[in-house]
Amino acid sequence: MSAEGATVLITGGAAGIGFEIARAVTARGARALIWDIDAASLERAAAELPGCGAVAADVSDADSVARAIAEGPEPTHLVNNAGILGPDMGFDAADAGAIDRVLAVNLRGPLLVTSAFLNARVEHGAASILNMSSIAGFNGGARGRAVYGATKGAILALTQAMARDLAPALRVNALAPGIIDTEIQAGLFADRAALEATAAGIPLARLGQPSEVAAAAAWLLFDAAYVTGEVIRVAGGRK
Ligand SMILES: NC(=O)c1ccc[n+]([C@@H]2O[C@H](COP(=O)([O-])OP(=O)(O)OC[C@H]3O[C@@H](n4cnc5c(N)ncnc54)[C@H](O)[C@@H]3O)[C@@H](O)[C@H]2O)c1
Repeated sequence: MSAEGATVLITGGAAGIGFEIARAVTARGARALIWDIDAASLERAAAELPGCGAVAADVSDADSVARAIAEGPEPTHLVNNAGILGPDMGFDAADAGAIDRVLAVNLRGPLLVTSAFLNARVEHGAASILNMSSIAGFNGGARGRAVYGATKGAILALTQAMARDLAPALRVNALAPGIIDTEIQAGLFADRAALEATAAGIPLARLGQPSEVAAAAAWLLFDAAYVTGEVIRVAGGRK
């Protein structure tokens, strides 16, 4: 199905996987509308991707989301991509503030943005929503990052509920990336060599690239006309 005439709102779209999704949908002839909390990244992204919309927004904040959606243009598709890892935190060291921040960005964010999107959206023949989960949503996540893993598991449940409640007007699917080479991974490893050493535990024996997640995103957004309520791992065979 055509991407032409589509405006794809991508949260956290100024860097990493979100930016590659913006690039991929633009290459398909759609307009990317990037929301991000990081002003400097937004500026860089807008310069690199002429024609995209770039709006400062914190997905965890209802007022910020309301302001951002009012800036327009009205989207036809949504990618709930913005997410944070949160600090290393053992089960014997629960920090209420840190827990709340990860929940707010990774779970409250998609709920607030989806609501704003639904109230503003323009109809489109291939309309769909894509939620960014993670293989951490299946396996619990890295040691010390259980809150992150729990939010990504919640995204899988949310995707099921949204797909049911928003059909037939909208398809809703999720992606579960594995270890993709972006800034978020830098928070998990002591250095580059430690990050690259994880390739040994990945069946395809390498880290994933953001563009490889973006290719799956574009397929789910525009082409997968009879697919809803599904999750696709883009993880090189890692579970
Ligand atoms: N990189 C990986 O290995 C990996 C694996 C599985 C899932 N994911 C998920 O993919 C998504 C993108 O991750 P990434 O690797 O590109 O991360 P990244 O850190 O490179 O990019 C995330 C972007 O989100 C923005 N952001 C953070 N908080 C925000 C907020 N409150 N409001 C708006 N924007 C905000 C950041 O400024 C940044 O531009 C996340 O949901 C992440 O959990 C990533």
